[in-house]
Amino acid sequence: MQATKSLELRMSATCMDEMAFQELAESLETLGIALETDVDSGQSSHIAWFGLDADSSESSGETEKCRQIRAALDNINIDPASVSLTVLENEGWETAWQKDWQAMPVGECLWVRPSFREGPNDDRIDVVLDPGMAFGTGTHPTTRLCLEAVERVCLEKAPATLLDMGAGSGLLAIAALKLGAASALAIDMEEESVDACKVNAEINGVCLDAKLDDTPPDQQFELVVANILAAPLVWMVKELSPCVGSHLILSGLLTTQVDDVAAEYIAQGLTEVRRDSQGEWASVEFMRA
Ligand SMILES: C[S@@+](CC[C@H](N)C(=O)[O-])C[C@H]1O[C@@H](n2cnc3c(N)ncnc32)[C@H](O)[C@@H]1O
Repeated sequence: MQATKSLELRMSATCMDEMAFQELAESLETLGIALETDVDSGQSSHIAWFGLDADSSESSGETEKCRQIRAALDNINIDPASVSLTVLENEGWETAWQKDWQAMPVGECLWVRPSFREGPNDDRIDVVLDPGMAFGTGTHPTTRLCLEAVERVCLEKAPATLLDMGAGSGLLAIAALKLGAASALAIDMEEESVDACKVNAEINGVCLDAKLDDTPPDQQFELVVANILAAPLVWMVKELSPCVGSHLILSGLLTTQVDDVAAEYIAQGLTEVRRDSQGEWASVEFMRA
């Protein structure tokens, strides 16, 4: 019999970073994970789904899976009050997260949506994402910060070339192409992200080059955007800085990390020109003088 029940774990993203949550969920044999952000408050939650036996009579109680999860959280000193566990009776976990994924206006002229939501009813530029992909939905504050920055740069002067390092769903590169960038290269170290970039580029009718790699290419681009995390942005500073022809946008940073990351890029000859933040997340922009 096919399992129709699943267990949904939710916790505030302040409890642990994305990588640690992914490792924890994988050690507990997760079916899938997502990061959801409330657009108004900027508060993010980690979500993971776990399979339950459809015949289990314990659906409302302490299932074995609940006990395993609680024990794993206890081991790493996560406060039980910051965690919720819910049994989804008949809802497929693959689509459970989609109900909260709304279309959203971003910046002055973008409209970002999964394909099951309506397009804009004004002249905003429609950017559509494959609903099958539970990452890079555009709702995370760092993605919004980057989208707003990409829009600002493109409206001032659309770049001839763009690098989206750590592209995820390819959203940033696709938005830039729709805003007039002449060409874009999306790079990600995850194969499923590279596939997502290709699918999403096709849905949006743009030509996006997507490559699997974990290191920036030996090539210069007018605009470089990298929404990754503080640690990898520091590790790759010597490879990423030379890629910047004119403008660099970095995000994936906590507000407390911006000074340290910015110092690394300034040491490579770039000039900081702007910082923005949403909640605890920040972006920082540089120019090559
Ligand atoms: C926070 S997601 C951002 C996705 C997308 N750019 C966005 O703004 O929504 C970070 C992405 O960077 C990728 N990544 C992390 N380290 C990387 C590296 N060294 N090289 C390439 N991609 C990397 C991850 O696989 C993930 O898809």
